[in-house]
Amino acid sequence: MSNTQSDVIIAPSILSADFAFLGEALAQLKTAGADWVHIDVMDGLFVPNLTIGPAVVADLKKHSDLPFDVHLMIEKPERYLQSFKEAGADIITVHVEACRHLHRTIHTIRNLGCKAGVSLNPASLPQCLDYVLDDLDLILLMSVNPGFGGQKFIPATLEKIKAVRAMIGNRKITLEVDGGITPQNAPDVISAGASVLVAGSAVFKAPNMTDAIASLRKRIRQ
Ligand code: DX5
Ligand code: ZN
Repeated sequence: MSNTQSDVIIAPSILSADFAFLGEALAQLKTAGADWVHIDVMDGLFVPNLTIGPAVVADLKKHSDLPFDVHLMIEKPERYLQSFKEAGADIITVHVEACRHLHRTIHTIRNLGCKAGVSLNPASLPQCLDYVLDDLDLILLMSVNPGFGGQKFIPATLEKIKAVRAMIGNRKITLEVDGGITPQNAPDVISAGASVLVAGSAVFKAPNMTDAIASLRKRIRQ
């Protein structure tokens, strides 16, 4: 299955925003045509960086009605699922590398009433999802090593997107790609089978956010 231009979801990552003005950033994203808000949660253990926790997410929720796509880059994420749900997460994505009991964690997320996502680091094999495919709402493929915004897209991800798209088959699983997405590589990422693009620097470091989001949606390379 390939995607048409109109069904591509753009999920800007607020990691690249000015953290002193996150409320304003959310308002700007809505005006600029973003579909989701991607929130990167880092614990300094799973990844070598620290960001925000549920209290900040709860305050952000007051500033946006866009779906909150919460990407947990933390060890043992099961400890915080309920807190992020209460904070306003609509989608909660955990890393396969950070979960000892992935099946249980996925079901905990769903039982809380959130969509359940699983993320794979660039070196992780898609086959580790074989036995949870029927339990998943979303797969998030990392196209950089998680931890920081502004890194370069890893080209091998394109083959991985195609493989995971084939693995998904007719299941209603959203395929999201995160890291180093630009207007230049977005057409290839979409053609390979992604339906959600996370973009941090491509949105927040662009001169015009509306133009930046529109150019990410374009399926055909200009
Ligand atoms: C990286 C994060 C990404 C990152 C994307 O660990 O998961 O969401 O913020 O930023 P860019 O688009 O700049 O690579
Ligand atoms: Zn992310």
